[in-house]
Amino acid sequence: MPELTVQLGNRSYPVLLDDPRSFVEVLRDSVPAQRYAVVTNDTIAGIYGDLLDSWRSELDPVMHIMPDGEQYKHIGTWKEVLDTLLEARLDRGTVIIALGGGVIGDIAGFAAASFLRGVRFVQVPTTLLAMVDSSVGGKTGVNHSMGKNLIGAFHQPSLVWIDTKFLATLPQREFRSGYAEVFKTAFIGGRDAFDFITDTHDRILQQQRDAVCEAIRRSVEIKAGIVAEDEREAGKRALLNFGHTFAHALEKYYDYTGILHGEAVHWGMHCAIDLARRTSMLPKEDAERYDAMIGRILHPQLPTRPTGEALFSAMFSDKKVSDGKLRFILPTVPGTSEIRADIPRSAVMETLEEVFGGGFSSAG
Ligand SMILES: NC(=O)c1ccc[n+]([C@@H]2O[C@H](COP(=O)([O-])OP(=O)(O)OC[C@H]3O[C@@H](n4cnc5c(N)ncnc54)[C@H](O)[C@@H]3O)[C@@H](O)[C@H]2O)c1
Repeated sequence: MPELTVQLGNRSYPVLLDDPRSFVEVLRDSVPAQRYAVVTNDTIAGIYGDLLDSWRSELDPVMHIMPDGEQYKHIGTWKEVLDTLLEARLDRGTVIIALGGGVIGDIAGFAAASFLRGVRFVQVPTTLLAMVDSSVGGKTGVNHSMGKNLIGAFHQPSLVWIDTKFLATLPQREFRSGYAEVFKTAFIGGRDAFDFITDTHDRILQQQRDAVCEAIRRSVEIKAGIVAEDEREAGKRALLNFGHTFAHALEKYYDYTGILHGEAVHWGMHCAIDLARRTSMLPKEDAERYDAMIGRILHPQLPTRPTGEALFSAMFSDKKVSDGKLRFILPTVPGTSEIRADIPRSAVMETLEEVFGGGFSSAG
């Protein structure tokens, strides 16, 4: 039963992976409360009705079931969660349980951050992306028409409960999308992480259980270490955004429809490696290893071919633009990346032309 701790002093919390005990037993023990509230969506409530029924009988929680989809990750849906909590007259001792993927975790976490000025919450991630990334680290929030995740708060959970059995019902496309956040650890988690992804890539995509569990464990460990050092993203935490400068531009370009977050990150990682090659950051002796890595990046189908100019301007709407400068996380030696704010526009445009210009295709 691998257990990790996100070390944040008196706000430290455990991340339990495939713990053999029952969730309710652990919850009652480590995050006791008079009342619990569960936030989930209608898809998950449909698939996991039996689980919710057992929680109903054991915990008698207040339930809030929202519609499914990134398009509902907005301030109106967040207000509806708060309405449910207030109408049930819950108090500050309440614990909110987020059962779902990153959308549910982000909204429920933001509701927990703001309800009565902050209550505890627990993440029960059900997608690969949420298991390896969004459930850990305390970033919560919602989208605004001006851009993604523009409204939110840092609010750490009290417990992250990862049960990989949820992955059995996850659509294949969602699994591959979530894998982007695992693959990215090859570029920020040290040489050992690079070697692990190189060796285990195929077995993870075949969803071999031991490989998937180990990938989750390692990804969480890397993220927990970075968050413990830099909770508020003053420096090192930005490394977790490897590939994301391009990815966020793609998501914005397609107005967040027709492309999943992880799919955009796959393309963004390809761009980041290409840009690093162009700006001579990759040691010659490692170039072949990077070529091999590029060959392994999934290239999901894009709705239409994007234009370089439009993608470049979409990059400036990202909240991570500071002083009007684009920041890129670019690989250096295998397993390591650097944050750069000095990359010329011409190099970025060349990369966009290289990656998207010449008739890309679905390599699924
Ligand atoms: N807070 C953070 O640090 C952080 C980090 C990365 C991404 N995010 C956010 O996470 C979101 C993306 O998360 P996601 O990829 O998990 O998407 P998601 O939450 O939309 O879930 C993807 C789809 O899978 C369904 N689903 C979830 N679990 C399932 C299961 N076990 N079986 C069957 N279907 C299931 C969902 O209902 C949904 O339709 C984005 O909003 C992104 O901004 C946040």
